[in-house]
Amino acid sequence: MQRLTNRRILLGISGGIAAYKCAELVRLLSKAGAEVRVIMTSGAMEFITPLTMQALSGNPVHHALLDPEAEAGMGHIELAKWADLLLIAPASANLISRLAQGMGNDLLTTVCLATDAPICLAPAMNQAMWRDPMTQANMERLQAAHGDNLTVIGPDAGEQACGDVGPGRMMEPEAIATAVADRFDTGLLDGVSVVITAGPTREAIDPVRYISNHSSGKMGYALAAAARDAGARVTLISGPVTIPAPDRVQVVHVTSALDMLQAAQSELEHCQIFIASAAVADYRPASVADQKVKKSTDELSIQLIKNPDIVATVAAHEPHPFTVGFAAETQDVEHYARDKLARKNLDLIVANDVSRTDIGFNSDDNAVSVFWPEGQQRFDTMNKHSLARALIELIAGQYKA
Ligand code: PMT
Repeated sequence: MQRLTNRRILLGISGGIAAYKCAELVRLLSKAGAEVRVIMTSGAMEFITPLTMQALSGNPVHHALLDPEAEAGMGHIELAKWADLLLIAPASANLISRLAQGMGNDLLTTVCLATDAPICLAPAMNQAMWRDPMTQANMERLQAAHGDNLTVIGPDAGEQACGDVGPGRMMEPEAIATAVADRFDTGLLDGVSVVITAGPTREAIDPVRYISNHSSGKMGYALAAAARDAGARVTLISGPVTIPAPDRVQVVHVTSALDMLQAAQSELEHCQIFIASAAVADYRPASVADQKVKKSTDELSIQLIKNPDIVATVAAHEPHPFTVGFAAETQDVEHYARDKLARKNLDLIVANDVSRTDIGFNSDDNAVSVFWPEGQQRFDTMNKHSLARALIELIAGQYKA
């Protein structure tokens, strides 16, 4: 079920007594890390309330095809594009018939026509309706039209709500959730909790001035997106940056090194991999002036005191996550990186030469050398997104080794 982490599941519920099982189904999918949105047909709403599905999925329920408000927000095309997978459960005989004819006469059937996402369909109906040649012909037509893009889950056989016995019961929510998870490839970091620090910190001098650096956050944000795509649950602890946060990543905004330390420590309990790509200020002003410092003397001295080392604090914690540091160097890159690897007790360090203006700080590209106790690897200049994917692959391999 860990394959469901970060997946977007669009659940279409049609009218049938099995609709009540969708409450448990949504709970299972959400617990496994999926984001769930629900479409209900008019029939479905006779069996279970939209309010229940909204409360469980954490998202408003979609129903009307021609809803001016929905069109401005999430209309049928947006929903069709949003979904990583469309799950229809229960799929009634009526819905299957409309789908087999290619009809688009309500929101759910329209989304089915509009989506490129794989479709899972869990039929549920009276045993005689399921065995009816028309229903069977509709199922064959659907399977022929969608090929491998359609997975039929069930139906199960057994006692039915109407008292009949035979095939037509909707599969249990656990079995449906497992079948949905099986539709996704295994990610390198499925279900692993990853915490990433990114961007600069700002160390206040007075209410309007601070000490900082040129970090844009691009490297750390790209790592967060790559870890998410590998199936991880990602928390991004970010200093002040102007780039947009990747979606499906939890972002904690911080300003100073002390804020960043506190945020990192509060994530430690569940963190399995910690990646410190932030450019944390090594020093901060010993005291912060309450009011703006006025221009007076020709010289002004600011006394600085050392900030705590966040990544070293994380690595010293017991039990500690697999801890990855970055090393921003301007000379003797390997020597200083290996020194930080040992001194901060890291599992792996990613070293970049920040004396170059074409890579490193505030650039779209980077080139790094990675060192760990038993090995090293070089990644020549490339886009930070490509580099992030390569680094996540390497980190996942070392984490599991
Ligand atoms: O944000 P971009 O514009 O994309 O630029 C990316 C980057 C150049 C900032 C990034 O690739 C990088 O090198 N990040 C580390 C910057 C840095 O502070 O390096 P350092 O060598 O000073 O620190 C070594 C390690 O200790 C780093 O993992 C750093 O996050 C960590 N550290 C440093 C000081 C401190 N007080 N606490 C820390 O955790």
